[in-house]
Formats: sequence, C-alpha cells, structure tokens
Amino acid sequence: MKKKVCIRTFGCQMNMADSEIMTAILEKEGYVPCDSEAEADLVLLNTCAVRDNAVQKILNQLDQLKGMKRARPGLMVGVTGCVPQYCREELFAMSDIIDVIAGPDSYRNLCALVSKASRGERVSDLEFRSTESYADIEPVRKEGISAFIPVMRGCNNMCAYCVVPFTRGRERSRPMSSVLFEAERLAEKGFGEITLLGQNVNSYHDVDAKAGFPVLLDAVAKRVPGVRIRFTTSHPKDMSPRLIEAIGANTNICNTVHLPVQSGSSSMLARMKRGHSREEYLEKVGMIRKALPGVTLSTDLISGFPGESVREHEETLSLLRDVRYDYAYTFCYSVRPGTSAAEQLEDDVPESEKKRRLQEIVNLQNGISRELFQADIGKVVEVLAESESRRSSSQLMGRTEGNRVVVFDRVNYLPGDIVRVRIEEATSATLVGSPEV
Ligand code: SAH
Ligand code: SF4
Ligand code: F3S
Repeated sequence: MKKKVCIRTFGCQMNMADSEIMTAILEKEGYVPCDSEAEADLVLLNTCAVRDNAVQKILNQLDQLKGMKRARPGLMVGVTGCVPQYCREELFAMSDIIDVIAGPDSYRNLCALVSKASRGERVSDLEFRSTESYADIEPVRKEGISAFIPVMRGCNNMCAYCVVPFTRGRERSRPMSSVLFEAERLAEKGFGEITLLGQNVNSYHDVDAKAGFPVLLDAVAKRVPGVRIRFTTSHPKDMSPRLIEAIGANTNICNTVHLPVQSGSSSMLARMKRGHSREEYLEKVGMIRKALPGVTLSTDLISGFPGESVREHEETLSLLRDVRYDYAYTFCYSVRPGTSAAEQLEDDVPESEKKRRLQEIVNLQNGISRELFQADIGKVVEVLAESESRRSSSQLMGRTEGNRVVVFDRVNYLPGDIVRVRIEEATSATLVGSPEV
C-alpha cells in the first residue's frame, strides 16, 4: 500500500506553492496526498517564521499531534519551510515529536530524510542551495481556478525587521522558458488565473534570456491570453516604468498592484532600511495611477516598529488617506532575533500602544475600503467566478481584476466563468450583485 502524506501549510503564498512542489516530489517517490492527519503516515507542517505568533502557532499544532504520534508510533512528523530554517536544530528541543526538519532548499531530499528518520534518528537538512529553484518540477495543484507559479526565490533586501532573507536565502530566478511552459500547461488544464510569485518579483532576472520581470510578465500574458495574470510582491524601490507599461499593454494582466509600504514616514522607512522615502513612494503611486486608469492598490503596514513616534504613526495614517488603498494587510511589529532591528534597535513601543495604533490604521482603512467599494454600486464589473459562496449554494463568489471579492446569484454560471455582474450592495470587504442580463 502506498504511504499517505498530509501537508499543512502556513504563511505566505510562497509556502503554498512550495507545498505543491513537495507534493510532486513525494508523489514521485510513491506517496499519495491525503487531507487528514488521522490517515497519514507522514504529516508535514510547512511553516512561517515572519512573526513570533506564527512560530507559536506551529508549536501548538505540534502539541495537537502529540496524542496521535503516541497512539501510532510509526507516524512520521516533519517540519519544513521557514521555522526550521530560522530556528535550526534548536527546533528539535522545542517539541519532542519532530522526526525531520527541512528548509526551503531541501525538498528534493524529503523522502531520503524521512526514511532515515524512520530508523529512529532525528534528521535535518537546512542547507542553503542558492541555485535551487525547482524549475523542473511540475507542482501538484489542488483543482481550482487560480494557480501560483513561483518565478524567483529568496530575498536580498534585508529590511531591518524581516526574517525572510534568513529563511529563504539569496535571490535566484527560474529560467523564463520554464515559467512559460508551466503557464501554458495551466491554461490547457483550464486554470483561469495565474499569479507569478516571489518575495520581490521585480528582482526577477533570467541572465541567458536577458529578461527582467517586465519582459517575463509581458511574455506570460501573451503566451496565455485567455488567462488572468497577477503577480506579487513588488518592492516599491524597484517598481519601474517598464513594469507599469507591461501591465497597461496586456488586457489580461490584472489592473492592480500590491505595493507594500510598511510605514508612511520617511524617517521610519530609513530605520526599516526600505530603500525609499515617503515622497519617492508617493511618486511611484502617482506614476502608476497616471499610466493605469482605474488601477487598484493594496499594501502591507507594520505598527510600532522601534522608535515609532506618534508623529510617524500619523504620517502612516495620512499616507493611507492620500493613497486610498483597496486593502491593507496590517501587523504589529514583532521582534525577530537575528535581524538588524532586533540587534540594533530597542523594541520600545509598548504592546498596548502597538495595538492601539494598529486599530487606528484598521479603522481608517476599513472606512476607505467601504467608500471605494460603495462607489461600485450600480456599476457592472467583470468577475472571475471561483467557487460557491460560503453563505448560500445559490450564489457564487469571485473576484474582479482589482481583487475585490464579489458574491452574486449563481443562475447557470460555473466556477471558471467570467461573469458581468451589476453591483447592488457593498461592505468594506465584499461586493454583492446579480449577473447582467
Ligand atoms: N516580500 C514581501 C513580503 C514579506 S513578509 C515584501 O517585501 O513586502 C509579509 C509582510 O509581513 C511584510 O510586508 C511586513 O508587513 C510583515 N512583516 C515582516 N516582518 C515583520 C515583523 N518582524 N513584524 C511584523 N510584521 C512583519
Ligand atoms: Fe522581507 Fe524586505 Fe525581503 Fe520583503 S523585501 S521579504 S520585507 S527583507
Ligand atoms: Fe513566512 Fe517564510 Fe513566507 S517566513 S511570510 S512563510 S517566506
């Protein structure tokens, strides 16, 4: 009988894409994927270390697996991704049920590691392999409408607060030809949307093809003209006119940009080592809005980074009012030992104040989102239907190209269809409407 593997994924879209790569590697070696720890011979937690609560979450998950492991000593437990790469072998001491730990560059060795561990030894592979891009592996994806293609891995930016450069290693890109091939395969399989992924996609570079990210994006869009194309994440300092041009030149590239700003204050951005000022960021936003009418923007923000004064916080609020994002993903600063902020700056904003500032940001942003979404009432928007709505089986849920969630009456439409929907209602997170007849 084939062995069963259950993979649980935490963290960002890169980790989701990596779980699909791991599934492909394990299937080749004779495993079948399953969706329940109770059935599994191997449980893998693919983990995130970006904030302390992400790590705590994994330790809780491991606690929950304890009973199962006691009842079935043959059950193997592996922790993959960013937590083991960040905590290294010390992770073994944090939970006695871990058999295997493997970092993001070690997935080709998973099976060998698991079989070694099944002989009773705890094993680890935390090597950085700076050329590993898994370009030759076709990920095993769950059925659906939307697929990820990782185009680059790692990050060379070293923002002061961030563990990613330590967990993911140096930047490296996949050959453009392998990305185009995968996009074609996805289109043939009927996927309606492809998201090109990287911690910093603007750094994509295929040396042999002499292609940077704008060239790649343009080529993918032209190769699969019937598929919606998205990409994430763009670093503001590398957001170029050529990239904006590529978005404008292809109707299937979604007219939306996720542009993490982290703070609206130039002094804070300098302490965060982001490589740009508030003014430079706003200039880029202006350039994007001018070249791409109707574009929607989203961002990431951190509240309570070391030394954040009330004035700096207020500059973040004023930036939100200036830019008017559709969405903002907001986080309280979490000290990550080993990063330059943790080594050099004191975590001096009290937890309660971080939360208070975060709430202020969230309240302001919710109001802005609501206003923007309300302005869609009466308009007809194009929606890519994704799935049945959670509220009712007579409704479908999908997204506009600007990533706004839309719930609408199903009529005879199916997931995968592009539907023109007239918007009737709006909240700060969802639009509701009916298909245009
Ligand atoms: N590469 C992407 C995303 C990195 S992680 C980028 O550059 O934008 C996703 C988000 O987590 C970041 O944008 C940041 O807002 C947040 N984040 C990263 N480290 C953090 C920390 N130590 N504390 C709180 N939030 C953090
Ligand atoms: Fe982290 Fe900065 Fe790299 Fe993003 S660009 S992954 S925030 S170091
Ligand atoms: Fe988390 Fe690693 Fe992604 S730390 S945000 S899973 S790159």
